[in-house]
Amino acid sequence: MKHSKTVFACSSCGSQSQKWLGKCPDCGEWNTFVEELAAPPVERRGAAPALGGGGSRLYDEVDTVVSERMTTGISEFDRVLGGGVVPGSLVLLGGEPGIGKSTLLLQAAANVATTVGSVLYCSGEESEHQIKLRGERLGIGRAPLYLLAETCIERLVEEIERVKPALLIVDSIQTVFSLKMQSAPGSVGQVRQAATDLLFTAKGRNLPTMLVGHVTKDGSLAGPKVLEHVVDTVLYFEGEQHHSHRIVRAVKNRFGAVSELGVFEMTGTGLRAVPNPSRLFLAERPASAPGSSVLCTVEGSRPILVEVQALVSASTFGNARRTASGLDHNRLSLLLAVLDKRVGLSLASEDVFVNVAGGMEVTEPAADLAVVAAVASSLRNKPVAPDVVVFGEVGLAGEVRSTSQAGLRVREAVQLGFKRCVMPDGNLAPGDVPRELQVTGVRSVGEALDALL
Ligand code: TYD
Ligand code: MG
Repeated sequence: MKHSKTVFACSSCGSQSQKWLGKCPDCGEWNTFVEELAAPPVERRGAAPALGGGGSRLYDEVDTVVSERMTTGISEFDRVLGGGVVPGSLVLLGGEPGIGKSTLLLQAAANVATTVGSVLYCSGEESEHQIKLRGERLGIGRAPLYLLAETCIERLVEEIERVKPALLIVDSIQTVFSLKMQSAPGSVGQVRQAATDLLFTAKGRNLPTMLVGHVTKDGSLAGPKVLEHVVDTVLYFEGEQHHSHRIVRAVKNRFGAVSELGVFEMTGTGLRAVPNPSRLFLAERPASAPGSSVLCTVEGSRPILVEVQALVSASTFGNARRTASGLDHNRLSLLLAVLDKRVGLSLASEDVFVNVAGGMEVTEPAADLAVVAAVASSLRNKPVAPDVVVFGEVGLAGEVRSTSQAGLRVREAVQLGFKRCVMPDGNLAPGDVPRELQVTGVRSVGEALDALL
């Protein structure tokens, strides 16, 4: 029998098998096995590297280290990181090709190099000249910013020893390979190895490290799931090809709030932070057109006003269409059923299209009331007044349920000059509502539509 030199590894959990398997016996994921070269047995000399000091310590004896965060010089980037870069932290930035990952990190690197100290920017995707060319566009001045076109992790570690940077950037983790493994860069084993090597370097030298991660077709990070487990922070770069604004979202953060957002605009000279995204998302709102409502949504700790648009038109085919973009499709079906059953709006023979303007993705149920308002407004062909903000969760009985962080939403509405707010009655706490805003508390969808239309 021929001895096989390849093994199959699960790209989700890293479990290995001699044969290809449809379902991973360890993590239960389907179709995650990929073939790769078997790693030779690793000889371990000496002790494995340790993250802290040797031995266990009593909880009380561990000092509380208030680590000074390092600013990237980009306010929105600092915000998603939870207020700056924590020393020794490992940050993974994922996103579609061409969205601006390298641009953002190069800008951050240049800022850190000018204000803090030397930065090592290691790229396995571009040559030094290409990076320099981008830097010219970004207007990077003189700073101790070291560029390294390298893919071998061992040589990268040597370079770290030499440069002793204050920040390390690796673009991207999928191009890095370790001499300890024989498989190709980007394979499950290599990515795992590179990530753990960088983890030990980051923790051992207290060196903050930022990694770029590729995403797969379905938008999740390419490579093994362990990659997301070992890093401290996972950020996703989102955006649409046809819009110039980009959103960086924290999906995991050991040092800050998750689902925190940073909003940027891609310009001819790099990414520019957008400190007030509500204004951006409401910029092109048609005044008093039917089928439009303004929602105040909260992402992480940040309130954002977005426009929800709906178009209801008579269906030409027997099967009415429901299309939702920026919104969960099933949630839309549920809300339409509530409108039909509890309010008596007949939508069975109508096509319904709902869109969150500006390419924002809204996942929280507090958006329900704004969707319902936009749909009813379009169906009745009556506009919602342009100075009204709406939020609230809708239940199956047609009731309006209270949502979290109502005060935050209301304050954002006041700041952007809105005059009225229709919100859940349960959220009406005295003292929480600013005087500038006329607030209507509603208990049911019917009440809300009466107040709005
Ligand atoms: P890039 O950072 O290379 O993307 P990624 O590393 O995520 O693949 O971004 C490249 C895109 O950004 C490219 O389409 C050009 C655009 N861009 C600008 O519009 N302005 C700029 O100043 C720069 C540097 C890039
Ligand atoms: Mg890139």
